[in-house]
Amino acid sequence: MRTRRSLLDLDDLTAEELNFIFERARSFEKQPAPKRLDGIACVNMFFEHSTRTFTSFNLAELRLGADVVNLAPKDLSLATKGESIEDTAITLHAMGVSVLVVRHTEAGLPARIAQAFDGHVINAGDGTHAHPTQALLDIHTLLEEFGDLHGRTVAIVGDVLHSRVANSTLRGVLRLGGNVVLVGPESFLPDAYAEPGVGVARDLDAVLGEVDAVILLRIQRERFAQLPLDERHYIAGYQLNRKRLLRLRPSTIVMHPGPYNRGVELDESVLTYAGWRYASQVMHGVAVRMAALDLIVNGITAC
Ligand code: NCD
Repeated sequence: MRTRRSLLDLDDLTAEELNFIFERARSFEKQPAPKRLDGIACVNMFFEHSTRTFTSFNLAELRLGADVVNLAPKDLSLATKGESIEDTAITLHAMGVSVLVVRHTEAGLPARIAQAFDGHVINAGDGTHAHPTQALLDIHTLLEEFGDLHGRTVAIVGDVLHSRVANSTLRGVLRLGGNVVLVGPESFLPDAYAEPGVGVARDLDAVLGEVDAVILLRIQRERFAQLPLDERHYIAGYQLNRKRLLRLRPSTIVMHPGPYNRGVELDESVLTYAGWRYASQVMHGVAVRMAALDLIVNGITAC
């Protein structure tokens, strides 16, 4: 039975908790963190490839003094011995594990584990569904830049349909009072994405001069069998390149959850653009994950 706090999507966090995470992340970035996970066992279960998120969670747990175990799919007996994911979670709990950080190709799998596991489950990305800690680090990066998101517009560009980052970051921007314009071809961005506060646009050139931040997305080829459009057309319409950078206001920042594909959603000139914030996102990722772990395990506490 699920009796403890988990973080499966941003909706699991109240407004007060969101603020707590950003403030605590700021304080962790200023001074060495107290060992707030001392004696807490965390298991990272990444069933899908990950470089950034995996390393970032590891560093966050270690910096808070947790005991950390990493399981790759080949280490998980359920992969070969028929054990269900729920029974694996029960076993890990009996061993004293308190936190499971889970990434999986299947949307909803972390939620299923959370039903069986008497501990905390953190979703590190499930299929096309959600990626709450990426959203938190994206919002933290935006807040560090702009102070607050009221009246700000964020463009999310590219393969929105297959992006859990787009789903979660979009919710985060709306909750903090900002607006979102989604930009992409119909095969990557159905009209149905439009809602109050969220526009759908097809013409990237027309949008670039109107926004405060641009978040680029990778074409997530591992999530569909065949590219639904010609890649050259995609690049012609949606790649952020030297010419398109000139359309941005000088204060507009450009972000990407990574991994980025040079020559597809961006060209080399983006990597030297003054407003390119990729490294800041990655840096903030560690502190934000520390703050999220602190909140989920310890609740709202004084530092
Ligand atoms: C993203 C992911 O895996 O969802 N990357 C990340 O976690 N930083 C985005 C992607 O794979 O394109």
